[in-house]
Amino acid sequence: MSLPYKNVLLIGATAGIGLALAERLIENGIFVIGVGRRKERLDAFVAKHGPEKAAASQFDITKVDQIEGWVKEITTTYPTIDAVILNSGIQRTLDFTKPQAIDLPRTIQELNTNYTSYLYLITYLLPHLQARAPNPAALVGVSSGLALVPLPRCANYCATKAALHSLLWSIRAQLERNEGSKHIKIIEILPPAVQTELHSQQAELVAIGEGNIGIPVEQFLDEAWAGLTAGDAEIPVGIVKVRFDTTEEPRREQFGRILKAYYK
Ligand SMILES: NC(=O)c1ccc[n+]([C@@H]2O[C@H](COP(=O)([O-])OP(=O)(O)OC[C@H]3O[C@@H](n4cnc5c(N)ncnc54)[C@H](OP(=O)(O)O)[C@@H]3O)[C@@H](O)[C@H]2O)c1
Repeated sequence: MSLPYKNVLLIGATAGIGLALAERLIENGIFVIGVGRRKERLDAFVAKHGPEKAAASQFDITKVDQIEGWVKEITTTYPTIDAVILNSGIQRTLDFTKPQAIDLPRTIQELNTNYTSYLYLITYLLPHLQARAPNPAALVGVSSGLALVPLPRCANYCATKAALHSLLWSIRAQLERNEGSKHIKIIEILPPAVQTELHSQQAELVAIGEGNIGIPVEQFLDEAWAGLTAGDAEIPVGIVKVRFDTTEEPRREQFGRILKAYYK
């Protein structure tokens, strides 16, 4: 089974989860426009699949003052984009017992990559997705199991993912109640630890032998793909499922009460 989308804009397509997901989409007949900063990887991605199946745009999403123009350009070049996957992310190790050693600009870069840039992207991409009505459209965010319960080592990373998780709940609630937006499905994928460059490029983790933690990307993808094709709005993968069931059910009930009171 495939997805009801035909042209996907995938941000963070040069490595790990994003690259594997891009290739799975292409295998299923979906055109992918991959985005990332590393041009040589984007070129290799298009060369591998051919221009009839793949395209690429080199862009650094932390350049927030360029996002509006970039979105205009990309949606003009590819007016049939019907799904956007916000997958890019970085992770930093942070030790508040040694505050003098905290590199604040590096920490803010993590916040900007994982959250602030997404706010810009969502704001500027939504009008395009709204204009796709009544055809199905989707906005997919890749958060983390650490959005639900934090891991102190990467405190700020967890906070950015918790913020994204919360934001997606609210956006979903708003769009599904709006005539001009309810064709846009808000989907969240919550991965467990997966073997990618997210860890293998962190010197601190490599130094303690944890550069390769997590499940293989293909194992992650098989489960995430099953959730996507089943039409799930939230897709906790692997061990995150247990965390999700125990933390999110009571929170969802409270959220339901808030929605009932607010939307009367
Ligand atoms: N791996 C895990 O254990 C795990 C667990 C939970 C959640 N996640 C989440 O899954 C997503 C994918 O992570 P991954 O594990 O696949 O990591 P990865 O292998 O390091 O890939 C990260 C991707 O994000 C892109 N990216 C980073 N900064 C960017 C920027 N400023 N502009 C544009 N693209 C940027 C990278 O492309 P360029 O470097 O070419 O720009 C790359 O394609 C992330 O959101 C991550 O937080 C991962």
